[in-house]
Amino acid sequence: MCGIIGYVGYREAEKILLKGLHELEYRGYDSAGIAIVNSGLQVNKVVGRVANLENKGLVGTFGIGHTRWATHGKPTVKNAHPHTDCTGNMALIHNGIIENYLEIKNKLKEHAFKSDTDSEVLLHLIEECYGGDLKKAVLDALKEVKGAYAFCVIHQDHQEIVVARNGSPVVLGLGERENFIASDVSALVPYTKRVVYLNDFELAVVKENGISIFDFKNKQLQPAVKTVDWDAVIAEKKGYKHFMLKEIFEQPMVVRNSLVAPFNLDVKARKIFIVACGTAGYAGLTGKYIIERLAKLPVEFDIASEFRYKDPLIGKDDLLIAISQSGETADTLAALRLAKEKGARTLGIINVRDSTIAREADAVIYTIAGPEIGVASTKAFLAQLVMLYRIAEKLSHTQLDMSAIPQHLQTILTKSDVIREIAKKYCRVYNFLFIGRNLNYPIALEGALKMKEISYIHAEGYASGEMKHGPIALVTDEVPTVAIVPKDGVYEKMISNIEEVKARNGRVIAIATEGDEEIQRHATDIIYIPKGEELFTPLLTVVPLQLLAYHIADLRNCDVDKPRNLAKSVTVE
Ligand code: AGP
Repeated sequence: MCGIIGYVGYREAEKILLKGLHELEYRGYDSAGIAIVNSGLQVNKVVGRVANLENKGLVGTFGIGHTRWATHGKPTVKNAHPHTDCTGNMALIHNGIIENYLEIKNKLKEHAFKSDTDSEVLLHLIEECYGGDLKKAVLDALKEVKGAYAFCVIHQDHQEIVVARNGSPVVLGLGERENFIASDVSALVPYTKRVVYLNDFELAVVKENGISIFDFKNKQLQPAVKTVDWDAVIAEKKGYKHFMLKEIFEQPMVVRNSLVAPFNLDVKARKIFIVACGTAGYAGLTGKYIIERLAKLPVEFDIASEFRYKDPLIGKDDLLIAISQSGETADTLAALRLAKEKGARTLGIINVRDSTIAREADAVIYTIAGPEIGVASTKAFLAQLVMLYRIAEKLSHTQLDMSAIPQHLQTILTKSDVIREIAKKYCRVYNFLFIGRNLNYPIALEGALKMKEISYIHAEGYASGEMKHGPIALVTDEVPTVAIVPKDGVYEKMISNIEEVKARNGRVIAIATEGDEEIQRHATDIIYIPKGEELFTPLLTVVPLQLLAYHIADLRNCDVDKPRNLAKSVTVE
């Protein structure tokens, strides 16, 4: 939701903090700021993007930075982080939500609050507890705090950054005569690949010559140093206009790698529960269809934010699969923890190594998608699907032949320009319907989400059979319908649905199977996918929908990689 960065070392901090914030901007970008200690505390805060924080020439070799996705308080300069205390000697940055901030604020009536945020309240509480020892002040303050947080606090009299974590990610970067703090490794890999992941209810004191870690009872802990196997280079755009387009075009390689990745799965389950959010959720719903069809096992899919509050009927004989690209989504993490409390075994399908969900699940299958920077998830979705097929294959003791899929994907990608021409005909509409059946019903939902989140056009995904139960009332010549209609067992049903739309002057963009001439009598526009097994169509039909949404968003001059109001990782509920 927000990005935090900290640096203490021998180099000038400003450049390092700004570069780090650029890397973290996908986590939130409605305002930003840095604080650097020199003779005193120097603070620079802006509304909007990190780029507005142009190098002010702040001098100093240690400081903190923040890029914000507003939760409490509008995106204004006063609400931007870092916040400063009454003395002006302390500064704080925070990612998360302090749930009892009003109760705390009421106890600090003599403090002068400058913002409307919950984060500033945390700083004044630390100021209230401060008696010369910053770490002690933080530990004392945390005894009164409820909520999710990853925050850094500095004091101009101490050459150190104190960082604490509960529920929001923090990773420490270890350098030579310099150390770093960040929300995720993308901000660290240009400087170091030696990292330490802070766990919930842990605090670190980060200095130029080293770090020390404590639990909240002030017991010192041994840091677990890991090496990041990721090179910042592969996170560059490599000539594509947007990260999202690059990631769409990486999908053949991602699927190829996912098909051969080592895979050991040893689970027995009475019932399988799949939980996730957003696009990962639609992968999970597709997984339900796949696993039930192949393994004949009952699978329940739940949106994680629903699962965690419905007192789910899950127990020790069940398996919960949590799907998450970031491995930090708060609702998915909470659902996993609830399932564990109820005795179920848990498996994560995760893209970011050593992320919180990856570390807390009983077992983890890493998707081999590489870093996904675009806020709209594409290649991670396909990688999640491949892992779900491989799980179904294992559970059903069958052999699936998916070797043709990467080439089929490559073929679809060659149609990007054709899809852009179709996009030009529809980029000014205000509403879209996406319809599909069976395995392609979740793909209709995913296609609608892609359209919504990057082009800002309202789009609804529906099970095609539901059209006559209401949505068809929406159809006019100004409300186009995208119909996923491969040559499969429900093809005729889909043709009927398309005819119902056409009978009401609705235009139809059909995602159809190469060689299908019949569809030309029904659809307004057609995007073909290569012939293949019905079971694997979701891996193919989603790509034209990704490209359609991408081109429409680009034609509308939307910010494809960082859509308004969104963040790549939703670490608050
Ligand atoms: C996908 O395009 C969205 N950005 C969003 O729905 C995302 O899939 C969701 O927030 C889940 O994120 P996760 O996979 O990191 O858990």
